[in-house]
Amino acid sequence: ISALQAALQSYRGHQNDSQVGLKRIALVPTMGNLHDGHLELVKIAKQQADIVVVSIFVNPTQFGAGEDFDSYPRTLDEDVEKLATVEADYVFAPSIDEMYPVLPPPTSVLAGAITAQLCGQSRAGHFDGVGIVVSKLFNIVQPDMAVFGQKDYQQLAIIKQLVRDLSYPIEIIGAPIVRAADGLALSSRNQYLNAAERQIAPVLHRELQYMVQKLKSDDQREQDFGSLLAETHQRITEAGFIIDYLEIKTDELEVVANNATASTVEHKNLIVLVAAWLGRARLLDNQLVTVN
Ligand code: PAJ
Repeated sequence: ISALQAALQSYRGHQNDSQVGLKRIALVPTMGNLHDGHLELVKIAKQQADIVVVSIFVNPTQFGAGEDFDSYPRTLDEDVEKLATVEADYVFAPSIDEMYPVLPPPTSVLAGAITAQLCGQSRAGHFDGVGIVVSKLFNIVQPDMAVFGQKDYQQLAIIKQLVRDLSYPIEIIGAPIVRAADGLALSSRNQYLNAAERQIAPVLHRELQYMVQKLKSDDQREQDFGSLLAETHQRITEAGFIIDYLEIKTDELEVVANNATASTVEHKNLIVLVAAWLGRARLLDNQLVTVN
């Protein structure tokens, strides 16, 4: 922490310096095992800032009992090589002891009702862990901006809330989902899939796209959300997934009634979100849609 802070200090302007040498610093928080989705966040950060810090830390407080904390892939050397190709400036990869002098930390950064739904419902305490580690990273790095992926849409929404409520002077940038050629959203957890499961996995994205098409099509937009969800739920299940949730929400993650339709719904900016197990992998995906 102190080595990183000393290094970053030289880029920060001093009040009497007439801001000479002032550089904009961006933070990209990750748990490592980097893929092209992560590297895209770094590229976006590079476009917006002068100095990009990437953190790599498999954060124990966001994993529940029985989750994959121990088996989560740790590939620091390869990660650092990949980060060099996109010209990241600093990699911050602290130890657990340095991040958590006391574990579990007796301080929590509660993110409120938004944490109780979707992923927060099946992963109790998960977002408390995300909240505390991201707060710590913000305080350690003190970036001007931070980049998060829309693949973890709820996480991005919670971080925006955290920044608003705790007055962090940090701009939050949301980055589009990066996908494999067949549509599967890239994820470090995709490597838990065997070859047969990997063939099935893109079904998730395809079904979301199909729902979005239906929500936008003139002849089918009278179908209520409940029946559209039920139909899609069944097809995803038949493909071999065990669905954790499949929901339509507003883009601010407010509840949308099941008997609403694309033509009657009040808030027109919607999002379809899914989390589903395929073998050992819990896969996430989502798709924004504006109806009218
Ligand atoms: P991790 O899963 O490593 O993801 C790091 C960042 O990469 C997150 O902002 C995530 O949304 C983004 N990301 C992952 N896959 C993506 C894809 N296919 N397209 C676009 N962005 C993608 O999310 C975490 O780590 C942790 O919860 C963290 C925020 C680091 C806190 O520990």
